[in-house]
Amino acid sequence: MPTHHKLIIGNSESMKEIEDESVHLMVTSPPYFNAPFDYKELYDDYEQYLAILEKMAKETYRTLQKGRIAVLNIDDMLVKGEKFPIVADATKIFQNAGFRYRDRIIWKKPDGYLRISRRSGVMLQHPFPMYYYPDNLLESIIIFQKGKFVYKSIPQEVRESSKVNIKEFQDNRWYMTLWNMTNVLPGSRLEKDIAAFPKELPYRIITLFSYKGETVLDPFAGSGTTLKIARDLGRNSIGIEIKGELEEIIREKIGFGTDQSFLDDNNDIFEAIYRNGEIT
Ligand SMILES: C[S@@+](CC[C@H](N)C(=O)[O-])C[C@H]1O[C@@H](n2cnc3c(N)ncnc32)[C@H](O)[C@@H]1O
Repeated sequence: MPTHHKLIIGNSESMKEIEDESVHLMVTSPPYFNAPFDYKELYDDYEQYLAILEKMAKETYRTLQKGRIAVLNIDDMLVKGEKFPIVADATKIFQNAGFRYRDRIIWKKPDGYLRISRRSGVMLQHPFPMYYYPDNLLESIIIFQKGKFVYKSIPQEVRESSKVNIKEFQDNRWYMTLWNMTNVLPGSRLEKDIAAFPKELPYRIITLFSYKGETVLDPFAGSGTTLKIARDLGRNSIGIEIKGELEEIIREKIGFGTDQSFLDDNNDIFEAIYRNGEIT
């Protein structure tokens, strides 16, 4: 079956192009407030940031089918010496939007991960109590559910075609709340200046929480990692991204050339919609 991939260039505070209960899974990584490397001073204050997450959570609840899953990859953020409890606040926001808090997975990056502030160095300079600041190698993956899923609603042949590979599940320890995954390496061309998550993250989530032929939503699409993996796994996708200049990168990542809407082998379709009326 050909898959369909829609990119909406606009603000995901509203998802007006998406019908109620038409999405089967949401997986995304929102900006981490004013993260020093990636989003320096993007928001005026923390309240403005939380208000955006709140609107996105409400729209996600509206567009998701009953019983389905919403996943956020997010982390607490240290900005100018103050730590903002983004994971706790986002959890509350999703609960208030109607979701049930289902699980929290910790993503651990490799020990040599470079792109963190080396706060622990303070202890080397001042080897005394009270100078302790650990380096952070962890992010959270928080999982929410909209009511109860009816397992019987999925036809037998769809269940079979979407079967999870148990060897992969066991060998790569998907069964634990600790996921060891390598981050996107600095210098990766398509992810330059975009705080992209590794393909492995949407790969696991899409495999574990959606069936073939269903639709996966990413309201902060970035370089389009979720859309690309959705396509690889035979799912449809919808991405929302505020920066129009990322369309080209997203197209390339998913596998559609600049002027190409169809892909020959499977007749997969790509469509970009600009809120200003332009359709490409
Ligand atoms: C952390 S990045 C997502 C990276 C993505 N997971 C990937 O693998 O490339 C967050 C993205 O959200 C976009 N963004 C920020 N605010 C937005 C909003 N209100 N609506 C839609 N996109 C937004 C940013 O431009 C950025 O590309």
